[in-house]
Amino acid sequence: MAGPTVSRRRLTLGVLISGSGTNLQAILDQIADGRLTCTIGVVLSNDAGAKGLDRARAAAVPVVVVPHRGFASREDFERTVTEELERHSVELVILAGFMRVLSPWFVRRWSSRLVNIHPALLPAFPGVHGQKQAFDYGVRFAGCTVHFVDEGTDTGPIIAQAVVPVIPDDDEDALAARILAAEHRILPQAIQWIADGRVRVVGRRVWVEGVRPGSDDARFNPALDTSR
Ligand code: GRF
Repeated sequence: MAGPTVSRRRLTLGVLISGSGTNLQAILDQIADGRLTCTIGVVLSNDAGAKGLDRARAAAVPVVVVPHRGFASREDFERTVTEELERHSVELVILAGFMRVLSPWFVRRWSSRLVNIHPALLPAFPGVHGQKQAFDYGVRFAGCTVHFVDEGTDTGPIIAQAVVPVIPDDDEDALAARILAAEHRILPQAIQWIADGRVRVVGRRVWVEGVRPGSDDARFNPALDTSR
């Protein structure tokens, strides 16, 4: 006989965006199909023209615009952002293409509850245009990183990474698209791990309870000659 159904409380997310919001869309899609058992309390943008806001509206998710230019200081802006997040009962903040540098005040305020997706294999290529930096550098593998945010630039403890190859005909855009497709997979997965209470940070290391290890095979790019 089946036991009683245990209904777990769903974690409430605040998603901060500045642009197209394809990572937001990945979160919305996984919530819609039940793979991600969270609720989005609010989608907040510093830019009223962010395309991601339409994605949120289409999903009937509350939307707030806080234009950063209207504030005397970074911290004033962030205090208003924080008030909005609190007003919508946000428990975990997701930076999904939010193009504002955050002050130590904000990072401390949301400590351990602030997650970022970065389009490079950190600690390589932090900061803006990680995909371009990797492409220009000539790496053979690029990728993306989901990490907790600390006071540095893209330096917080790493929750998950995905690796994609750089292939000969790539241009910067093709590589960025391959990285973005991987972002759409690891970001919702990392959020679900946190929502499930399976994530623990010990120093710089993040432990995720019960996960399968990634393949321990080396990957080669270009492939090695078959005779070797
Ligand atoms: C992504 O590449 C993300 O890694 C970076 O900003 C971009 C946002 O893309 N932080 P989108 O708005 O989710 O489409």
